[in-house]
Amino acid sequence: MSIFIDSTNITQVKTALELGWVKGITTNPLLLAQSDQKAAELLQTLKSLSDGPIFYQLMSSTIDEALSEAHQALEILEKQLVVKLPPTDLGFRLCSELSSRIACCPTAIYAPSQALIAREAGAQYLAVYVNRATRLMGDGLKLVSDISDILKGSHTRLLAASLKSPEEAARAFSAGADDLTLPYTTLMDMTKHPLSEDAINQFQADGKGLNQA
Ligand code: E4P
Repeated sequence: MSIFIDSTNITQVKTALELGWVKGITTNPLLLAQSDQKAAELLQTLKSLSDGPIFYQLMSSTIDEALSEAHQALEILEKQLVVKLPPTDLGFRLCSELSSRIACCPTAIYAPSQALIAREAGAQYLAVYVNRATRLMGDGLKLVSDISDILKGSHTRLLAASLKSPEEAARAFSAGADDLTLPYTTLMDMTKHPLSEDAINQFQADGKGLNQA
């Protein structure tokens, strides 16, 4: 399992990567638009911060432009690149053409049928929008479980995305997600529980260790 940070905010990304258990960075066009840096510069910066996978979503609407955009991203991110692709005819065609050379991740997935095609097209990852699916369709965790069944025995990893709380993240993993991508706030909340804080405060207040008399 890998946990990624879903952000283009450099301070957030640095803080998350310093935690030690965050293994890469996912981005999307809206997150890129939040940065003052040009997309190419921003990807360079992200690459300088992480040795892990960096997800970049293609925006082109024709096959030639998309192939050229993928190669531009490849020049910047090299083997760290994972190309996110919209689940359209063009996206799945690109996935079929690129996935033997570049890791591909069809994204914004809401249906098991899309997962089946991603599997057939050789996708390395598949980004399922869990919280959005719950809000818009009723049960994003059931969707994760259904898609997990579809992907069994393949090399396509289920990346649970659009996760909005630690509970939802843990449940997505229990439902069959292989990897999780989390926004900064959710990521930072993953290790916290009020009862753990109470216990630690008591240890600090009343306890003794090697550095106390
Ligand atoms: C994942 O890669 C996406 O960037 C993200 O999770 C999209 O979902 P959201 O906008 O609901 O967070």
